Amino acid sequence: MNYFTPMLERSLQELESTAIARLAAARSPEELEALRVEVLGRKGALDQFFKQMGKLAPEERARAGKLLNAAKQALEAALESRKRDFAETGLRARLDREWVDLTRELEELFFSLGFTVLDGPEVETEYHNFDALNIPADHPARDMQDTFWLDGGNLLRTHTSPVQVRGMERLGPPLRMIAPGRVFRNESVDASHEHTFYQLEGMMVDRDVSVAHLLYFMKTLLGEVFHRDVTVRLRPGYFPFVEPGFELDIQCLICGGPGCPVCKQGGWVELLPCGLVNPNVLRMSGIDPEEWNGFAFGLGLTRLAMMRYGIDDIRHLQGGDLRFLEQF
Ligand code: PHE
Repeated sequence: MNYFTPMLERSLQELESTAIARLAAARSPEELEALRVEVLGRKGALDQFFKQMGKLAPEERARAGKLLNAAKQALEAALESRKRDFAETGLRARLDREWVDLTRELEELFFSLGFTVLDGPEVETEYHNFDALNIPADHPARDMQDTFWLDGGNLLRTHTSPVQVRGMERLGPPLRMIAPGRVFRNESVDASHEHTFYQLEGMMVDRDVSVAHLLYFMKTLLGEVFHRDVTVRLRPGYFPFVEPGFELDIQCLICGGPGCPVCKQGGWVELLPCGLVNPNVLRMSGIDPEEWNGFAFGLGLTRLAMMRYGIDDIRHLQGGDLRFLEQF
C-alpha cells in the first residue's frame, strides 16, 4: 500500500512550476509542442503521477486526484495561452511582411520624384470642386459627377481635383503635388459603384510641360503599381479642366494584348484620365498660362486596388466583413 506522501505532493508542485516556467520561456511553437509531449503527453511526466494513483490507499486517492487534475488544468491553460501568443506574433509578423498600403507606396514613389503630398477637406466649396476646375454651374459636366449637396451650398467633394486648386492657390508654380483621398458620389451602389471611394490626383506645373512628361510619369507610376513594365496608350477623353484630355489605357496584364474576359477581348484596359491643365484653370488659380503649363491625372485608387488584388465587388471594401478583410 502506497501513500500520497508529502514528498510526492511536493514533487508534483515542482513539476507544475518548472513546467510553467519552461512554457513561458519557450521561443517557438515547436518548443511548445515538445514540452507538451514531455509533460502532458501520454507517458509524459504528469501521466507518471496518474499511474501512481492506482496504488494509493482509497482514502488518499480522492485528494491526490484533485491535486493532479488541478495541476493538469493549470498546465493546459498555460500551454494554450502560450500557443495564442505565438499565433498572434505569427500573425503580426505576417501582417508586417505582407501589409501593402497602395497609398503609401505611391506617396513614396512620388515623393522620390519631387512631388509633395497634399491634403484637402472632404467638405468642399462649390468653387473648389467645380467652378475653379472650369465646370461652372450650367456646365453639362456637372452631371458627370452626382453630388451630395450640403446645407449652405457646400458639398462632399466628388473628386480629389479641388486639392489641385488649393495647391496652386497656396504654393504657386513650379508645382509637383499629389493628393490622395476619399471622395463621394451620390450614386446607387452596385458591384462596381460606391458612394465612397478613393482617388489619387496628381499635378505638375512647370515651364514647357508636355504630353511626353505626362506619359513618362504615368509609365513610372504604373510600373511601380504593377511591378512590371506596362504598355500604355492615350485616347482622347473629355474633362473640362484639361485640354487636351485623355483616357490612358494599359495593355491587359492578364492576356498581354490578344484579348481575354478581363479586357473584354479588347486587349486594353481603361485605367486613368489625364491631360494638360486647361489654361483657364491655371488662370483662375492665379497662374499665368503664358508662362506656365502642366499636366494632371486622376487615379482611382479603389479600382486599382481591386485590379491588383482581383477583388470583383467594390462593396466588399467597406463592408466590414472580417472573412474578407482578414485576407489582407
Ligand atoms: N477628377 C476627375 C474625376 O474624378 C479625374 C481627372 C483628374 C481627370 C485629372 C483628368 C485629370 O473624374
